[in-house]
Amino acid sequence: MTKPDAIAGSVAGDDRIRLFCGLRPSDDTVACLAAWQAEHLPRDAGRIVPPEHLHLTLAFLGHRPAVETGAIGAELRAAAAAARPVELRPLRYRETRSVGMVVFEDANGAATALAEDLQERLERLGAYRREGRGWLPHVTVLRFRERAGLQLEPPNMCSIHDVRAALYRSSLGPGGARYTELETAALGGR
Ligand code: 2AM
Repeated sequence: MTKPDAIAGSVAGDDRIRLFCGLRPSDDTVACLAAWQAEHLPRDAGRIVPPEHLHLTLAFLGHRPAVETGAIGAELRAAAAAARPVELRPLRYRETRSVGMVVFEDANGAATALAEDLQERLERLGAYRREGRGWLPHVTVLRFRERAGLQLEPPNMCSIHDVRAALYRSSLGPGGARYTELETAALGGR
């Protein structure tokens, strides 16, 4: 993943960039999820999401003027500072038309509270529209053109306690999207 300094010079004021906010699990949890992917996802089932891209989306903003990045980052920091410690436990494996994901149980409600607080803040900023459906805590682990149709038990470890909130830039390319962390913030100001 490219570091913020490396991309700072590539963003001009009137550019639009594709942004989303997410939770980035600790390196240990990422390694746990990557080990589960390697064991359970067949290589021909689609594109296995690489470890550096594993995250839970809090709010997908889409293309926004690059000049908004600072204000969006400030809301992310404020929401993260107000958040309680999260406890997310793997619940099930689920597929949509385009992805396979591990869905998590939000054991103490803290991650959902953070997602809702952040979404409200971004909406007030005019940078985001809340979706009609509730927030689903999930990590996308596989992307495919044709549904893989896998029936998998979720990881029985890989609970998520230690996370940072992050503002990501998503750059679309022939090999799929590439994510860059523009900013990260600890939860609860820790
Ligand atoms: P997904 O992993 O379930 O596909 C960057 O694209 C991140 O934002 C992904 O994790 C993606 O979720 C999420 N996202 C949510 N809504 C999206 C949308 N309308 N278009 C693209 N990505 C979206």
